[in-house]
Amino acid sequence: MHTFRRFSSQLCVKLPRRLVKHPLSVKRCMLSSENPSDMLAMQSAKIPKGILGQPTCHTHPHMIPSGQLTCGITQQEYKERRDNLVAKLLEESVHIHKSHIIIIPAACKQYMSDKIPYVFRQNSDFFYLTGCLEPSAILVMVKPVLEDSYKSILFVHEKDSHAELWEGPRTGCSHAATLFGVDEARPVENFNNFIHRIVSSYKPGVVWYQNESPPNPGIHDSVRSALRIGHVSLDEPLTSLHQLRVVKSAAEVELMKETCFIGSQSVNLAMACTKPGISEHAVSAVLEYSCRMAGAEHGAFPPVVAGGPRATHIHYVANNQILNDGDMLLVDSGSQRWLYNSDISRTWPVSGRFSKHHRILYELVLTVQKRLIELLREQRPPLDQLFDHMCRLLGTHLQQEGILPKNIDSNDLIGKAYRLCPHHVSHYLGLDVHDAPLVRRRVPVRTGMIVTVEPGIYIRPDDKSVPPEFRGVGIRIEDDVLITDSDPLVLTDACVREVDDIEAIVGKQSI
Ligand code: GLY
Ligand code: MN
Ligand code: MN
Repeated sequence: MHTFRRFSSQLCVKLPRRLVKHPLSVKRCMLSSENPSDMLAMQSAKIPKGILGQPTCHTHPHMIPSGQLTCGITQQEYKERRDNLVAKLLEESVHIHKSHIIIIPAACKQYMSDKIPYVFRQNSDFFYLTGCLEPSAILVMVKPVLEDSYKSILFVHEKDSHAELWEGPRTGCSHAATLFGVDEARPVENFNNFIHRIVSSYKPGVVWYQNESPPNPGIHDSVRSALRIGHVSLDEPLTSLHQLRVVKSAAEVELMKETCFIGSQSVNLAMACTKPGISEHAVSAVLEYSCRMAGAEHGAFPPVVAGGPRATHIHYVANNQILNDGDMLLVDSGSQRWLYNSDISRTWPVSGRFSKHHRILYELVLTVQKRLIELLREQRPPLDQLFDHMCRLLGTHLQQEGILPKNIDSNDLIGKAYRLCPHHVSHYLGLDVHDAPLVRRRVPVRTGMIVTVEPGIYIRPDDKSVPPEFRGVGIRIEDDVLITDSDPLVLTDACVREVDDIEAIVGKQSI
């Protein structure tokens, strides 16, 4: 299976037999048709042949199966996403007797210095609607008031042999409409004139545009000046878009299973490579190497590799100390594959054996985490409510272990637990690590959402409110969970989590 299976099997840690889990299904999504192979052939025929500005099923068959625009996702699915967004904006808008113009810009290239680029990361909102990986492209959808349908126009960089000499091939306007399945493709240079003309011709209108923190500052002035034409109002499209993004399609669930499996195996490998004397830096290199070799583009974010008391700094990413016997190691890491992310935390003893007090704390967090996953099934609570559950559970268990005092009331207990775990217990996960951020965590979870469950305890070395033997330790356990109509599915299930299983693999692989 396209890169993923080939490499992942080579990099699997040799787990004891009882721990070997079957890789989650990596079968690529099939199209819903009576004759899937005909449908796939039809879809493939729509993808232009030849070298374009991004991998295609023709030029990169090892990355993209036949019939798909990007790995796992067809042109048809991207079109349905655009249809759904337009329908949702119109449905929720008070402006029924106006034209609607929706502008979703791609991300721009970012530079380290002078002409030295960072690795490009596409804007997730734009990618979700187009599958296009080109920097500074722009998707515009125009729905005139008197028409039933809308038109999709993609602005891309026109072919240019000088620019392509430096930066690589471009798709260009002649192929972009066919490749991305939009109605028209135009050169980005024409966007300014286009938007002024379209806003003038279709007023009164509503322009849907991300006005705060715009992803492409280069077109911001054009949009702002078009808005001054008159009889046109501004609204923001992302709240509705994120409500679509937060519920994953069957094809997205397959991609999430893959990235979660890759992330899980990379953390297992990091665990197996851990021993006293190696550096946090080396563990972080193992994470990155194993993710990439298994088919990820790169890690999902700079990982936390925090030994001993450094784990009490929640966003520790310096990763530059040596790991000592007797320390616990907290790792928070994930992989990005076809822009879909996993997000996993595990904590294990550097020596491979939990000390008595580390084991008490670890099992306490694990018990809380398991109960929170059960609560997702029993109550389908909003994530904010899951956080309240976490504080209550942590407080109660810490009290039972004698780590928090017995003589405090329940509000005080929850307050103290919150002080020991000051981050949220969950967020949505998908194309962004903190996915669909405009969807409130006050809404109940729904089938098709993928959420993290990540309780932790961080006890500073100088925290006099807990017994000394528990100080200077940070523990977090984080899994990625798909909400289904029945039991929630832990997509990161392949990542070792039980005490005995951790002890069975730490230090078992040399690097
Ligand atoms: N790795 C970031 C988070 O867990 O939210
Ligand atoms: Mn997380
Ligand atoms: Mn995390």
